[in-house]
Amino acid sequence: MVVLVTGANGQLGQSIQFIANKYPNIQFVYTDFQEMDITNLESCQTVFSKYKPQFCINTAAYTAVDKAESESEKAHLINAVGAENLAKVCKEFDTILLHISTDFIFDGTSTSLSLTTGYKETDIPNPQSIYGQTKLDGELAIQKSWEKHFIVRTSWVYSQFANNFMKTMLRLASERDSLSVVNDQIGTPTNAVDLAEVLLTIIQSPITHHPSFFGIYNFSNEGVCSWYDFAKEIFHQKGISIDLQPIPTSAYPTLAKRPTFSVLDKSKIKTTFPIAIADWKTSLKKCLELL
Ligand SMILES: NC(=O)c1ccc[n+]([C@@H]2O[C@H](COP(=O)([O-])OP(=O)(O)OC[C@H]3O[C@@H](n4cnc5c(N)ncnc54)[C@H](OP(=O)(O)O)[C@@H]3O)[C@@H](O)[C@H]2O)c1
Repeated sequence: MVVLVTGANGQLGQSIQFIANKYPNIQFVYTDFQEMDITNLESCQTVFSKYKPQFCINTAAYTAVDKAESESEKAHLINAVGAENLAKVCKEFDTILLHISTDFIFDGTSTSLSLTTGYKETDIPNPQSIYGQTKLDGELAIQKSWEKHFIVRTSWVYSQFANNFMKTMLRLASERDSLSVVNDQIGTPTNAVDLAEVLLTIIQSPITHHPSFFGIYNFSNEGVCSWYDFAKEIFHQKGISIDLQPIPTSAYPTLAKRPTFSVLDKSKIKTTFPIAIADWKTSLKKCLELL
C-alpha cells in the first residue's frame, strides 16, 4: 500500500516518519514543498502519476496564525486552494485523502450544550481568524470535490519536531526567570505522534473504504486545560523552576483572535476506529522524554 505524505518537514510530517517503521506493509512517499507544491495542481499530478498512492495524508499547511492576518492570500492559497488541488488529484487517481483541520474553525463562544463535552463534528463553524477561515475553506473545498476523504480536526499540536508551544516554553524558560501565559483560552494539547498513529490506524482499518465512514472526525489528546496549565505542566515535568504567572488574553494581544474554548468532542472517532486516546499529561511526558 502506498501512502503519500505532503508537508513532510512539518511537525506532523516528521511525526509520521518517526513511527513509519511500525507499519512495514506501508510504502511511504514523503514530499515537501520542493517535490510537491500543493498550490500547483500540475506538480501534484506529476507526483501522483509517479507513485499512484492509495492514500494521501495532507499535513501541508500555512500554520502561522498571526502572520496569516497580513498574508491572507498566501494562507488561502495553501490552506484552501492547496486542499482543493489535492482533492481533485485524489479524485483523478482514486486516492483516499486524509486532511488535517483545526479547532480554530470554531469561535469558542457558543453556549450550546455540546460545549460540556466539547465541539462535535456537526457543530457550526464560525472562524474568528484568517487562518481559521482558510482552514474551513479547505474543508469545504474537499467536501465539494471528492467524497473519499477523512478530515481530522485537531488542536494545540506539539511534538519533538519543528516549532510549537512546548518548545517555545522550554526556550523561554532557559532565557528568563519569569513568564506570563494566558489562562482564559481553554482547549486540549495534541501530541503530533499520537495524531500520526491515529491517521495510520484509520488507513489500516477495514472500514476505511466503506463510503459511510468518510467525513469529519475530531482528534486531540484527552483532557482540558488552558495554555497556562499546559506551560505549568511542561515546567513541572521537566523540573524547571520559573515564576509562571496566569494572565488574561486581554493582557497578551495577538493579531489573530483565538477561540476562548475549543475543546473537541472525540466520541465519533473513538466509536468508529479502534483507538485509545492518552490523557494530554501522559502524552506530554512521552514527548518530553524524547527531547
Ligand atoms: N500546529 C498546531 O497547533 C495545529 C493545530 C490544529 C491543527 N493543525 C493542523 O495540523 C496540520 C499539520 O500542522 P503542523 O503543525 O505539522 O504544521 P507545520 O509544522 O507548519 O508544517 C506544515 C508543512 O507544510 C509545508 N508547506 C507549506 N506550504 C506548502 C505547499 N504549498 N506545498 C507543500 N508543503 C507546504 C511547510 O513547509 P515550509 O515550512 O517549508 O513552509 C511545512 O513543512 C496542518 O493542517 C495544521 O493546520 C495544526
